[in-house]
Order: sequence, then C-alpha cells, then structure tokens
Amino acid sequence: MLTFRRALIIAAAVLTLFYLLRNTQAEKQIQTADMLPKPGPVIPLQNNDNPSPDTAEQHTLSTNSPKGQKDPSRRHRKPQTQISLQDLRVKPLKEQLAYNFPYDPESKFPAYIWQTWKYTPASGKFDPTFREPEASWTLLHPRFVHEVITDSVAVQLIKHLYSATPEVVEAYKALPFPVLKADFFRYLILLARGGIYSDIDTQALQSATEWVPPDVPRSSYGMVIGIEADPDRPDWADWYSRRIQFCQWTIQAKPGHPILRAIVTNITEETLKRKDQGTLPKDHESVVEYTGPAIWTDIIFKFFNDPEYFDMNSGNGNITWRQFTGITSAKKVGDVVVLPITSFSPGVKTMGAGEDDDPMAFVKHNFEGTWKPANLRHIGETY
Ligand SMILES: *[C@@H]1O[C@H](CO)[C@@H](O)[C@H](O)[C@H]1NC(C)=O
Ligand SMILES: *[C@@H]1O[C@H](CO)[C@@H](O)[C@H](O)[C@H]1NC(C)=O
Repeated sequence: MLTFRRALIIAAAVLTLFYLLRNTQAEKQIQTADMLPKPGPVIPLQNNDNPSPDTAEQHTLSTNSPKGQKDPSRRHRKPQTQISLQDLRVKPLKEQLAYNFPYDPESKFPAYIWQTWKYTPASGKFDPTFREPEASWTLLHPRFVHEVITDSVAVQLIKHLYSATPEVVEAYKALPFPVLKADFFRYLILLARGGIYSDIDTQALQSATEWVPPDVPRSSYGMVIGIEADPDRPDWADWYSRRIQFCQWTIQAKPGHPILRAIVTNITEETLKRKDQGTLPKDHESVVEYTGPAIWTDIIFKFFNDPEYFDMNSGNGNITWRQFTGITSAKKVGDVVVLPITSFSPGVKTMGAGEDDDPMAFVKHNFEGTWKPANLRHIGETY
C-alpha cells in the first residue's frame, strides 16, 4: 500500500536521482562515441630496480622519464567508427565498459565527492561520530558536489549508470554483504562519474587541490591513491596480505580510468561465476581479497605491468612493491600518482607514517569504525 510517508520517501529518492543523473544524456549516445578498442595512454615505465626509498623533498614528485613516450594525442586522431548496441554487447565486458565510460586522461578531475552510508547526514539516525568527518569534506571543498548516497539510492544509481551492462547490476545485487557492496560501489561510481570517493569515517585534513604538487599538470595523471601498509619487517606476511597495500578508503580518479575498468570487470565476473557455482562468500573472511584492499592492490600492480598501457621495453624489470616502499613524497607511475603512507594513513605510529599535522597528511581514516569488520579488512592494523 502506498502510504503518504512512502510516497514522500519515493519522491525524495526520485528527486535525488534526477539531480545526480541529469547530465548523463551525452553518454548514452552510443552510436557516436569512440571506436573500440579504446587505446589507453602509453606512458613509459619508471623502472629502476633500486628499492631504496625516495628521499626527495616533500612535495617533489618523481616522474617517469619521457624517453620512449608515445604521442598521447595520437589517440584523438583515430578515425571514429560506429558500433551498434548488438555488436557491442557481444564484446568482453571490459571493452563494453571502455566504450560506455571512455577515459580521457587530459580531462579535468570532476568536482564530486562520493560517500555512502545507511542514512544521509540529514537523518536523525546518522551516526554522530561521522558528522565531523563528513562535514570536513564540504568545508575543504566548497565548490564540489558532495553526496552521501544511501544503500537504497545506491542500487538505483548503479542500475541507471550501468543499464547498458546489466551483468554489472546483477553482480552488485548478488553481493551478499553491505561491506562488499560498499567496496564495489566506490569503483562503480568512480568509473562512471569520477571525482573523489571517501569512506564516511574518513576525515579530510587538506583539500584535494593540495594533494598533488601544483607543478605536476593535472592532465598528466588520472588517478591518485595512497598507501595503507608498508610493513618493512621479515614477518610481514603474518600481519598483512601484501607487502605494499594500497588503500581504497579514499581514491581520486577521472571517469573511465583503466584500473577502475579492470576492477569492475574482475568483481563482476568473479561474482557472477560464484553466484552460478553457489560459492559466494558466506562470511567476512574473504572481503580483503574479494573486493577490498588486496584485490585493489593486485589490480593496480597488474596495470603497472600491463604492456597495453606501458612500454615494457624501456625499463629493466616489473614494477613491484620495491618502487613504493619507504617513499616520503608522491610518486608518479604512468598516469597514477601514489602518495606516501603519511598522506592517507597519518598517525598510525608505524611503517614510517607521519602525524596528523604533517604537511603531507591529507586524509585521516578512522580505523576504530565499528560499521565494518575493520579487523578483517585491515589485517594487522594493531601492530
Ligand atoms: C580477479 O583478480 C584476481 C587477482 O588478480 C584473480 O585471482 C581472479 O582470477 C580474477 N577474477 C576474474 C574473474 O578475473
Ligand atoms: C612481469 O609482469 C608480467 C605481466 O604481469 C609477467 O608476465 C612477467 O612474468 C613479469 N616478469 C617478471 C620478471 O616478474
């Protein structure tokens, strides 16, 4: 029965969606977009095997040598071809996503801040401990659109954004726990819309406009990530799932970034396979590997070593944790800026991280949050 209250809630949801989605029309013109396959930026690999920490000054960025760089503007000179919806649908999911959410590395970072929580800040049920962190994003980014998306709005938003690839929507719905959905949501929203995603229990300490030194052109990178863990000890594997683990509580990206495309494809295919086999996770044990920081880290390293995007002949080996261990300033690999551990994990009192008032401290993640099984997601954070 449609009570007055339900009608009000539905009206509010519809209005929110309308507001969020009003500029999606252009993306729907599937007949006129770029051709497939979408070539990514080919950027030379920073690839010295020297594992010594980057001792450059704060706010100095190590960049790749331009040697061997292919002309990035070539991509714009490709002849345009049309592809019908039927032809597109038989292509692998990754290619469909590349077509639906084309990546333009030279575009601007969209001024969005995306967060998710059970309730909006306007609700009386919004957890009071999140008020200050939530407000910090608005205060430091007054000209950004800041949205806290509730679970029920999230599913509508995903349905809308991914209507051309219903298997993605099916996978989102099939994920058995809110924490898995929340993980998947961040990759989905950034792939489709770009901007900043940040967990609701994470406080902004400095505006995103300060995260990367101003002398690095915004057109030279399409993603900014931070380091969650860099356990430089022989028994690291007892405590952490990866020698270097990138965090996924805060991510900045331009829409269509190939890393996002890869992780959305992986989680979608993995989920649908497990759904068929009846092997979807039954507890929170596997979250880290399934949608969390471990798979995020693996997908990023895979990208760093993907000959489709990097000229593998210009270096002398693969990109591994060695290039990131102990870094104290931002490091750029291809079109990805990796911030040092202090930037997104200040105050952890370990692994060389600086304090909250360090000039390189940009966001503060609250590891005490009780809303997710933090002990499982961030293995060994008490060490
Ligand atoms: C997802 O990525 C993980 C880690 O690289 C890999 O083991 C797994 O096979 C991938 N799943 C799919 C469906 O590609
Ligand atoms: C480098 O990475 C590629 C692609 O991920 C892999 O096939 C190759 O075995 C790696 N080489 C070394 C020396 O680890």
